[in-house]
Amino acid sequence: MKAIIEQLTQAFGPSGYEGEVTSLITDLVKDYADELRTDVLGNLIAVKHGSQDGKKIMFAAHTDEIGIVITYIDDKGFLRFSPVGGVGVASLVGHRVRFASGAIGVIYQEEETEWKALTIDKLFIDIGASSKEEAEQKVHIGEFGVFHREFADLGTRLVSKAMDDRVGCAVLVEALRRMGQPKNTVFFVFTTQEEVGLRGARTAAFGLDPDLGIALDVTLTGDMPEARRMAVSLGKGAAVKVKDSSLIAHPKVKDLLVDLCEAKGIPYQMEVLERGGTDAGAIHLTKEGVPSGTISIPTRYVHSPSEMVDLGDVQACVNLVLAVTDADLSQII
Ligand code: CO
Ligand code: ZN
Repeated sequence: MKAIIEQLTQAFGPSGYEGEVTSLITDLVKDYADELRTDVLGNLIAVKHGSQDGKKIMFAAHTDEIGIVITYIDDKGFLRFSPVGGVGVASLVGHRVRFASGAIGVIYQEEETEWKALTIDKLFIDIGASSKEEAEQKVHIGEFGVFHREFADLGTRLVSKAMDDRVGCAVLVEALRRMGQPKNTVFFVFTTQEEVGLRGARTAAFGLDPDLGIALDVTLTGDMPEARRMAVSLGKGAAVKVKDSSLIAHPKVKDLLVDLCEAKGIPYQMEVLERGGTDAGAIHLTKEGVPSGTISIPTRYVHSPSEMVDLGDVQACVNLVLAVTDADLSQII
C-alpha cells in the first residue's frame, strides 16, 4: 500500500484539475471494477455489483488537494496568488509550489511584515524569473499550483503533501482490489472539488441516489505537544466520526461502523471534529436525505506540506470499508 499512497500523493491535483489523479486511479482499479465511468464534474465512479438483495452504498474519497492560483505577475516577475481551499498562511512561508506547467516557485513574505500580521496578500512566489516577460514564459494568470514536497517513508508512519485525501483514495483502491463480490452494490466515488465546498460529491450523490453514504477522509489528531484536546491519536485505529461542521453522523450508521469494528476486531476510536467537513456533508443532504457517516484516517499537520498518517490506521480503514460492503443494512434502510 505504501507504493500506492506514494504514487497518489505525488500526483498533481488542485481542486478543479484532478485529471492526473483520476487517471492514475483508473489504472489502479480498472481490472477490479465491474464498471468505471467519469461524470461531468470529473468524479471517477467505480462500481462493484452486489448480490441481489443488497443495497446501494456510495463511498467517497476526494481526489483534489488544496493549492493556490496565480492572480497577478509584477514587473520583476514575482507572482501574487489566492488560496484554493483552506490554505493556512503559517504553512506557506519558505515552502515551494509546483504549477501545472511544471514550474517550481518559492513562497516568501514581504520582509516588513510581522509574523502575526501575516496574511496571504503579504506573500509572493519567486519562480526564478527576473522580469514579467520571463515569468510569463513559465506560468500564466489563473494557473493553479500545489505544494511541492516529496513523500517520506518513516517506517509505520508516512509523510507527504496531499495525504488529504489521497490516503482516503488509497483506502478505496486497496479495498476494491481486495474484495470479492460484495453483498451490497458498491460505488467507489473518487470525488472532485471537496476542498472548495464538497462539490463533486454533491452531483455524484444526486446521480447515484445511494441508500447509504460513507466518506473516507482525514481527520485531525490531538496527540502532538500542547495540542488541542481531541481524543484521536495516530496509530489507534480507524476514526468513526460522530460530528464535524458539515455532518452529524446518522446514529445508526455510526453504530453500524462501531459494531463492525467490534465484531471484526478492527481497532477504532471515536472522532468529534470541532471544525471542518467531508463529502458526507454533501451526500447526506441529497434528495430526501441519505443516511451517512464518515470513516476518518487520523492525520497530523493537515493542510500543511507534511501530513502524517500511520499505516496501521490505514489498514484498519480498509478492513472497515470491506466490512461495510458485506454488512446487513436492513436495520438502517
Ligand atoms: Co482537506
Ligand atoms: Zn479532505
